[in-house]
Amino acid sequence: MRIAVIGGGYVGLVSGACLASKGHEVLIVEQDESKVAQINNGVSPIHEDGLEDVLMASLGSNLQATTHLDAAVRLSDLTMIAVGTPFNGNEIDLGQIEDASIAIGEALRDVNRYHVVVVKSTVVPGTTDDLVMPLIEKHSGKRPGLEFGVGMNPEFLREGNAVSDFMSPDRIVIGGIDERTRACMAEIYAPFGNTDKVFVNNRTAEMIKYASNALLATLISFSNEIGNLCSAVDDVDVVDVLNGVKLDKRLSPILSDGQRVQPEINSYLAAGCGFGGSCFPKDVNALRVYGQQRNLDMPVLDAVMQTNANQPLQMLDLLKKRQINLKRAQICVLGLAFKPGTDDVRESPAIPLIRTLVDSGAKVTTYDPVATDEAKKVLGDIDVTYAASMHEAIDQANVIMVVTSWSEFAEIPALIAPRAYQPLVIDGRRMLDQHAVMHYEGIGLGAQTPESGSDYDEHDHTGRMTSAA
Ligand code: UGA
Repeated sequence: MRIAVIGGGYVGLVSGACLASKGHEVLIVEQDESKVAQINNGVSPIHEDGLEDVLMASLGSNLQATTHLDAAVRLSDLTMIAVGTPFNGNEIDLGQIEDASIAIGEALRDVNRYHVVVVKSTVVPGTTDDLVMPLIEKHSGKRPGLEFGVGMNPEFLREGNAVSDFMSPDRIVIGGIDERTRACMAEIYAPFGNTDKVFVNNRTAEMIKYASNALLATLISFSNEIGNLCSAVDDVDVVDVLNGVKLDKRLSPILSDGQRVQPEINSYLAAGCGFGGSCFPKDVNALRVYGQQRNLDMPVLDAVMQTNANQPLQMLDLLKKRQINLKRAQICVLGLAFKPGTDDVRESPAIPLIRTLVDSGAKVTTYDPVATDEAKKVLGDIDVTYAASMHEAIDQANVIMVVTSWSEFAEIPALIAPRAYQPLVIDGRRMLDQHAVMHYEGIGLGAQTPESGSDYDEHDHTGRMTSAA
């Protein structure tokens, strides 16, 4: 099928490249000329595992990026809208969806064959039917259901795993105004085997996407709330608690041969310094506001966001607990990306944490394997040292704070072991063995009584730390 994808961001680019790899003829429309040049040269503008290989496989044959939306739509049978839908502080900003719908409508004006327009961007229920469809109808002069179809096909792509998620989907949600639209959409996914397909109307497709992300975000905030409670209880560790919870056979079923299934969703039942990224915070907020606009309180989702907003600051509480004088502290923050595998720092807990540390007078050095350049764009106004390696970052630190669970940070215990004065390690992702370092604090780890092994003595530190006394 000939497909135009509007938007060369992470959703559009991955979808376009992967659909091309399955044999479709794909034109990716992107208004940023430098991105178009990059894509056409096989260079991905985003850090996404495997994307350049997929791009290279089809460029020059059935995949191309262009700035010309009009021509791309006219040449295609189906147009996917994959533009940004940011949260503007009050509600979801549908400006880019509107612009794309108008431009698609205008492009379709002189097209005399049936065309399907599919919304791939995450949009609140009703957007496809009540905004996109009327705009296309108005600007094309054509009739929905007769001359064009309108569908909604949410994406379930994790940053960092987007290519493999697209190539091996867990489900394909196909919303459409009618059977013809849905059949046309199903055709583009025919090469994806017999993945479960959910055929619904557009509003339901839109709601499935939000409900999916809201569930995952809720699991994380739930885990964090339990973790914060565990922190306040002596000799309780949230890692043990949640491991015990996850052994409920309804969460990790036992097969007839006695083997446990460990569903991946359980990895969201983990306490840490908070979720981030371009999706969870934006989507949960948009859904809350959507409910409020319908006079429906959304107390669960309100609490999910509230817990998450406070979570990076739990790291500061652990500093206070150890009576660290921030004005004299040399702090190393490890990890800037909101999660490993990406250079995305949007809503990363590292950002408010670093800002608060610097505001409090701490000297902060930070390191991330791939996200430093992105972080500099948002932290450019404050005094932070960006180290080129983890080794350099932790060299002078008397406190090391782990914010992102990059696998290389597992080397911290070995790297600091030879040092005369052992730094305090604050583990925001509970990825290290607490006994592998001399001075350890972690999210969700209650105070350890001497009997249970804590041998912390603040005077072991370099003297740059002060006592409350
Ligand atoms: C998320 C969803 O997982 C995707 O299904 C969805 O398509 C996407 O949003 C979207 O709406 O576009 P993503 O934001 O890339 O994908 O990130 P996740 O890997 O789900 O991570 C989100 C947050 O959950 C992060 O803060 C991460 O630290 C946390 N997380 C992630 C966990 O707590 N456990 C995990 O196993 C993975």
